[in-house]
Amino acid sequence: MNALQLDTVRLSADRTCLEILDQTLLPGTVKVLNVSEIEDIWEAIKLLRVRGAPAIGVCAGYAIALTASRIDTADQMKFCEEFMKQKEYLASSRPTAVNLFWALDRMERTMRASLTRPVAEIKEILFTEAQAIRDEDVAISRSIGEIGFGLLKHGDGILTHCNAGTLATAKYGTATAPMYVAQEHGWTDFRVYCDETRPLLQGARLTAFELHNAGIDTTLICDNMASITMKRGLVNIVFVGCDRVTRNGDAANKIGTSGVAILAKHYGIPFYVCAPSSTIDMSLETGDQIPIEERAPEEVTEMWYSERMAPEGVKVCNPAFDVTDHSLITGIITEKGLCKAPFDKAFEELGIGK
Ligand code: MRU
Repeated sequence: MNALQLDTVRLSADRTCLEILDQTLLPGTVKVLNVSEIEDIWEAIKLLRVRGAPAIGVCAGYAIALTASRIDTADQMKFCEEFMKQKEYLASSRPTAVNLFWALDRMERTMRASLTRPVAEIKEILFTEAQAIRDEDVAISRSIGEIGFGLLKHGDGILTHCNAGTLATAKYGTATAPMYVAQEHGWTDFRVYCDETRPLLQGARLTAFELHNAGIDTTLICDNMASITMKRGLVNIVFVGCDRVTRNGDAANKIGTSGVAILAKHYGIPFYVCAPSSTIDMSLETGDQIPIEERAPEEVTEMWYSERMAPEGVKVCNPAFDVTDHSLITGIITEKGLCKAPFDKAFEELGIGK
């Protein structure tokens, strides 16, 4: 079974559960989980069974539609109260990717706008909205891909970090979308370097897996090999995804991204952030305001190793994201257009945040 022919997350046909492709098992095992209870959906997001900012947003939309459909009342106010409890709980699963909150807020607005209708109708409207979030995500990624493709030259070496691929979205990915679009245009003469992305190896397990499966010329490197790969002249352009971009263009993405941006600047390589407009948080001025998720030390000391690789009791620091300063970013590719500094002005011109 090819994992890429499966949806990252979808609602089951009988609308009793979410079908989540368990990304913690990739690339070795392709397994779809049927997740029905709100606690299990929360856990699937927390443990990165479903991950990547846009996919988390799609999952959250389906999740609240599903769990709200089980609220047992005909009273709109009671329904609203219970919906808000579920929303708050789901929002506590991961703090950095703004798409989680964006999708839940959108579902809340939809619910409130239809609150004069019978509860059974509100439930249907919520399912429709969740599906719209998913369908829009495909179109958004495709549009980012077209714009990114316009920046590529034949023979380019592209470097990417983490997985901002099909597995992180509904389809195409964001940072990988220019690659898939290039392939659709018949290009075969570009190469992709995937940073393995310690500690959770999204680059090795997910990006290398999906690009290699798609027949794209893919080379896996350890994170600490990006510098020599750039110095050797093998990288012409960098595409990365993001979890949250602030008004000034600072961009939070997987830990290690800002180091890649610093290296790219040193070697004179253009560095592009691929950002669906749902990832741009105009309520925050700078990246200093973005909450950074801290994760379990075992992800650094034990995970993936056959035995523990650090002394017992040693202190471990495991921030899951870092923030790339806007001054290091050549451009931010949104589905609405390519933004250049000053980013706040560029976002406003495209109507982002309205
Ligand atoms: O912790 P993860 O795997 O959810 O982190 C994912 C990333 O950092 C991605 O680059 C980002 O969410 C963009 S996905 C299109």
